[in-house]
Amino acid sequence: MILVTGGAGFIGSEFVLQWIREEGTPIITLDKLTYAGNLINLASLAENPLHTFVHADIADRKTVSLLLEKHQPNSIIHCAAESHVDRSITSPRAFIMTNIVGTSILLEEVLHYWQSLSSEKQKTFRFLYLSTDEVYGSLDPEEKPAKENHSYAPNSPYAASKASADHLVRAFNRTYNLPTITSHSSNNFGPRQFPEKLIPLALFNALNEQPIPLYGDGLNIRDWIFVEDHCRALRFILKNGVPGDSYNIGGNNEKTNLELINEICRILDRIQPRKSNASHSELIQPVKDRLGHDRRYALDTSKLQNDLGWVHEDNFQANLHNTIKWYIENPVWMEAMTSGAYQDWIKLYYTKE
Ligand SMILES: NC(=O)c1ccc[n+]([C@@H]2O[C@H](COP(=O)([O-])OP(=O)(O)OC[C@H]3O[C@@H](n4cnc5c(N)ncnc54)[C@H](O)[C@@H]3O)[C@@H](O)[C@H]2O)c1
Repeated sequence: MILVTGGAGFIGSEFVLQWIREEGTPIITLDKLTYAGNLINLASLAENPLHTFVHADIADRKTVSLLLEKHQPNSIIHCAAESHVDRSITSPRAFIMTNIVGTSILLEEVLHYWQSLSSEKQKTFRFLYLSTDEVYGSLDPEEKPAKENHSYAPNSPYAASKASADHLVRAFNRTYNLPTITSHSSNNFGPRQFPEKLIPLALFNALNEQPIPLYGDGLNIRDWIFVEDHCRALRFILKNGVPGDSYNIGGNNEKTNLELINEICRILDRIQPRKSNASHSELIQPVKDRLGHDRRYALDTSKLQNDLGWVHEDNFQANLHNTIKWYIENPVWMEAMTSGAYQDWIKLYYTKE
């Protein structure tokens, strides 16, 4: 039995679905169901006896403690977070409350629970925390990709809140011996990503003949990993990772935002041409840049490969193509995720230059 926090979100739901498909053992999802979490992501598990859903906040100490006592999980995968950089710039408080305070409460309750286990069970228990490449800050164009021992230089409130939690997770290992592991992933793409993030937003707008917003000069670089590959790596780390250690998980796919959006437009032009037959790329519209926009993130993933033997699969083109097809074939999901509140939010963030 394992427990996943934030399992109704983008990465968490992929992890839960993959776990049941590949491991076939019981899993509990704990999720507050914020705007980013939706049970539609786990709808296929509604009748599955291997899956239990609990609607709760990670900062709800009592519920977390009762849940741990009742289900006795042997691992926790901590995905729950406020995850969108733009939102952290206008409203950092929610990020501090969930990503820092919430994580600290979760850690305290997990520690109490772990201390109650037999020494045999304590040894095999794992607390896997999902962090981000953003904690390393912005890299120069010529700089080597960041290794796990890169200095921390978070620039956005989101990155700072994740970095704070990284330190707490590490401290609970060093101080109390809690078997924690931290993973640092690059930008994920794939099905079921809330359409405020770059790829589903570009797709949603392109399919609706709306301008595709592009921050600044479009030359900010991100490394892209397919969410299924990320979750496979997480399962691998859960089994093989060393407690107290941290691992980068990247896609070896550095792209500027402009390159990525142009690639999406090319795919759409092939599989879903516009009525006018003009390229979707004509919809690209530069917008005012994000405050403090980091120029480049890049991860050195050799530790995961060399120390643990992880083999990275590189099918970026096919995965991007299939991701786009998934969004086209799931309009009901899109509809459920893009309510009136979503539309107001988009107007607030993407203003024409
Ligand atoms: N998406 C990425 O590219 C990426 C990259 C690196 C790291 N990460 C990290 O991976 C994790 C998952 O990211 P995601 O993209 O799936 O995020 P997401 O925003 O899609 O999902 C977050 C989930 O957490 C839930 N949640 C939020 N606050 C909660 C709380 N207080 N208690 C319980 N549940 C709560 C939400 O309801 C949602 O289901 C996050 O920790 C994020 O920082 C994401």
